[in-house]
Amino acid sequence: MNDVKRKTRVIALASGKGGVGKTSIAVNLSVALARADKGTLLIDVDYGLANAAIMLGVNPAFTLTDVVDGRHPFEDVMQRTEDGLLLMPGSSGELPVGTITGTDRRRIYEALQSRIDELDFVVIDTPSGMRNETMRFLTRSDRVLVVLTGEPTSFMDAYATVKLLALEHGFTSVSVIANMVDSEISGRDLFDRFHDVAARFLPSELEYLGSLPRDEHMRMAIMRKQPCVTLFPESRAAAGLRRLAHTLADQAIPPTSGGNLFFGMEHPDAPA
Ligand SMILES: Nc1ncnc2c1ncn2[C@@H]1O[C@H](COP(=O)(O)OP(=O)(O)OP(=O)(O)O)[C@@H](O)[C@H]1O
Ligand SMILES: [Mg+2]
Repeated sequence: MNDVKRKTRVIALASGKGGVGKTSIAVNLSVALARADKGTLLIDVDYGLANAAIMLGVNPAFTLTDVVDGRHPFEDVMQRTEDGLLLMPGSSGELPVGTITGTDRRRIYEALQSRIDELDFVVIDTPSGMRNETMRFLTRSDRVLVVLTGEPTSFMDAYATVKLLALEHGFTSVSVIANMVDSEISGRDLFDRFHDVAARFLPSELEYLGSLPRDEHMRMAIMRKQPCVTLFPESRAAAGLRRLAHTLADQAIPPTSGGNLFFGMEHPDAPA
């Protein structure tokens, strides 16, 4: 196995419940990583509401759908933003989630082979819910970042996602971000409660990546179609996002077989 040589880490965002800030975090974390000179590619696999391009102010002529349909090569569809981030835009409503086939995924992996040396991170933004297609992307990563908020529904849905990953797929590398919290202490407290429950029933290895404050600048940045870390660098949210990016970059996440699967290094695209 050649995973020792693989420098790129694949990070997939998940939540279970919708609207908890996955796409906002995926976009801003990716921009913060790129601005910290980490080669980063953000792939938006949310076909329902592909918002990452909008949040980045990119108006793509082509999307991931064109790549998986074989109409345009990956390299032509991928865009580089002003911050140096590479984006593979998703398409809104064009292709229902669940129709990306194994061949489609293989096309993505093959296109990325030539980029492995240049990329430190591939960040994958997924749709809410636990559809099979989403689970396939989550389990083909080195680490899943679960976004959690203080709402009980978010807690339960995040737990259900972590449970499904662990018990059905044997996937246990999970980091948690507590979003929209009132203070760092309440973020830590939220993670501790989540960890207590998960540690009792699941084999998952949960790590706390950190928290993000509830900050209106996040919403205002979306209205202006720019990432919060670029538009409002002085905001508390931007500071938190930069901190999360540095923590992630400093963590030396080990390569796992999930990431190997993503790059087709192990049983290319097991049907799963
Ligand atoms: N830390 C925060 N403070 C304030 N508002 C936030 C924060 N994080 C996200 N939001 C807001 O929450 C809303 C939902 O965010 P976002 O679209 O990123 O969630 P999502 O989990 O990707 O949703 P979906 O499930 O629809 O994909 C947006 O209006 C965003 O501005
Ligand atoms: Mg989203």
